[in-house]
Amino acid sequence: MTRKVTKAIFPVAGLGTRFLPATKSVPKEIMTLVDKPLVQYAIDEAREAGIKEFIFVTSRGKGALEDYFDKAPQLERSLEEKGKTDLLDILKATNMESGEIAYTRQHEALGLGHAVWCARRLIGPDEPFAVMLPDDVIASEKSCLAQMIEAYEETGGSMVAAMEVAPEATKSYGVLDVKSTKGRVNDVAGMVEKPALGTAPSNLAVIGRYVLAPTVLENLSTIKPGAGGELQLTDAIAQEITDGRKVYGFEFDGRRYDCGSKAGYLQATVAFALSNPELRDEFAHYLDGVINHKMAAE
Ligand code: UTP
Repeated sequence: MTRKVTKAIFPVAGLGTRFLPATKSVPKEIMTLVDKPLVQYAIDEAREAGIKEFIFVTSRGKGALEDYFDKAPQLERSLEEKGKTDLLDILKATNMESGEIAYTRQHEALGLGHAVWCARRLIGPDEPFAVMLPDDVIASEKSCLAQMIEAYEETGGSMVAAMEVAPEATKSYGVLDVKSTKGRVNDVAGMVEKPALGTAPSNLAVIGRYVLAPTVLENLSTIKPGAGGELQLTDAIAQEITDGRKVYGFEFDGRRYDCGSKAGYLQATVAFALSNPELRDEFAHYLDGVINHKMAAE
């Protein structure tokens, strides 16, 4: 029997340099897809997976992110007075209960592994926990994290979300060395962070959803900086395998958008606009026009 996963860590302390100059003052996680900030997609996915405590690892300049989760009484009153109940419902759906959200700080951007380690005191010694990177947005029928927790309840160990990428893209990801596969679950023999071109053990890449055993936090205290001189979460998870514990790669059902990159963010914007009932027709018509115009010009 696995212990229930009720806490998720959201590491949001990165510098977001790929979106400069915007990220000079706007946290990347507050950037919107249509009308919802990236972080709200992650929160909604976590809630659907049964997460009750939301732990944010933040840094200097992320104040707007903390404000986003506060109640907005003045705005609520104004919408109430004007009878704008639809908007009021949208607003209220983003409210967090007092105490269900916690913030800790990463004082220096020393890598994803280090950011997760900063939350170590908020996770109990025997408690499995989730890690979610809000810049990976996953469009799926069933919440990706919910799919993973369901699988984790069968397997135990630690579980990372995995997806196939083109061989030339493996150098940008943590990549799995797979021992055996059963359905969506891959038994993992090893993990390599950002392997040099041509050396990846497979084309199954790790993306930003994890369900981790508490021992991963202990590993983070002892591992040395890895790829890029950063403390790598991948290395701390790979340590589990070295220590004889199980790690699984879960091939989720859904489509992941890398909203930490400009191209991925734009693709997600188009996809979410086209799946929005209010926008779909007008936006599809506009895109048609753009594409036809471009083809005619070529
Ligand atoms: P990224 O690799 O996307 O880095 O981090 P970044 O700083 O956010 O963005 P770029 O590359 O400079 O454009 C992946 C996730 O890990 C978090 C980020 O906030 C993001 O959610 N992270 C990364 C930290 O919390 N701390 C770090 O030191 C590094």
